[in-house]
Amino acid sequence: MTSTLLTGIAELVTGDPSLGHGSLGVLEGAALVLEGATVAWAGPAAEAPAADTAYDVGGRAVLPGFVDSHSHLVFAGDRAAEFSARMSGTPYAAGGIRTTVAATRAASDEHLTAQVARHVAEMRAQGTTTVEIKSGYGLTVRDEARSLAIARQFTDETTFLGAHVVPEGSTAEEYVALVTGPMLEAAAPYARWIDAFCEEGAFDADQARAVLAAGAAAGLRGRLHANQLGAGPGVRLAAELGLVAVDHCTFLTDADVDALRDSGTIATLLPGVEFSTRTPWPDARRLLDAGVEVALASDCNPGSSYTSSLPFCIALAVRDLGMTPAEAVRAATVVGAAALDRDDVGVLAPGRRADLQVLDAPSHVHLAYRPGVPLVRSTWIGGRPVG
Ligand code: NIG
Ligand code: FE
Repeated sequence: MTSTLLTGIAELVTGDPSLGHGSLGVLEGAALVLEGATVAWAGPAAEAPAADTAYDVGGRAVLPGFVDSHSHLVFAGDRAAEFSARMSGTPYAAGGIRTTVAATRAASDEHLTAQVARHVAEMRAQGTTTVEIKSGYGLTVRDEARSLAIARQFTDETTFLGAHVVPEGSTAEEYVALVTGPMLEAAAPYARWIDAFCEEGAFDADQARAVLAAGAAAGLRGRLHANQLGAGPGVRLAAELGLVAVDHCTFLTDADVDALRDSGTIATLLPGVEFSTRTPWPDARRLLDAGVEVALASDCNPGSSYTSSLPFCIALAVRDLGMTPAEAVRAATVVGAAALDRDDVGVLAPGRRADLQVLDAPSHVHLAYRPGVPLVRSTWIGGRPVG
């Protein structure tokens, strides 16, 4: 196996507090040794062991690749007109999902696959090395299964979101029976996770609970969309079920925050949504101060958050959610990995995957300090730069 020594690292963000300072485990003047697809060594440059080849990053920062734990990349069409209308005052409505459902059902497998490939490439160019992809714009047995089969070509972190919204022509009761029966059976071979949109206008707590229970019986782990459009029972349901993560968490009561702290469920915040729907920001500071772990993800989808950029989400989180740059970077790496129950990614320490990014900047702070600037110079997956 070939080993590579990365030198000239102005700042190495390891994500492991035992390797450097602060919660991000930062080392200045560092080196990193990769062996095949794995990190073999991380530490001060002066102590670096020899390796087969050397690569000088030229005084830049090296960070773990981002782990984007929430996206909806299998879709066709866009909803730019809806976005434009929102910017002049029309409120966001979950019903817009049905517009994308119609376009997705009408699209060929080839088109949907090309769409996912294009957005995954955008993500990689912005430092993302692990992405979760949901179904949820098919809403028929065939279209949910094919959405997941397509997503599976790009990631193992696939999520069955048949319970996204009730499609036209069904009652909620009929549709939940379909989702928990034949649709789940067709989707499960391609999915690791199951999700439901627990919100007024989508699925109530009993329906979400039934969907996650059926998924668990089929071997899928649960996650939830909750408390996006208003306070509701979703976050407490996630905590009660001991889910690894619950996503959105924009409208939270004190009881919701306490429940998250007590259950250890990660709150995944998706500030691209509040940007794109011009709605109030979630309060990361309140969650962190209460002892809740916070992850950041893109929620990339054509309706509520059409961004594939975690640097953009980090900048929003620092500016408007009350996070420090270190907390936001940790939320998009270490905690994003934890939100997918993964400990092999999101950290650059011996034994972890060599998934990393080199920034055209001397420190991680620049991700928020220089918003909108393409700072990711190269992204490495499994020890190699990817194009
Ligand atoms: O995560 N909240 C539900 N689902 C997506 C929105 C999908 C859409 O508007 O198309 C979300 O924001
Ligand atoms: Fe989502």
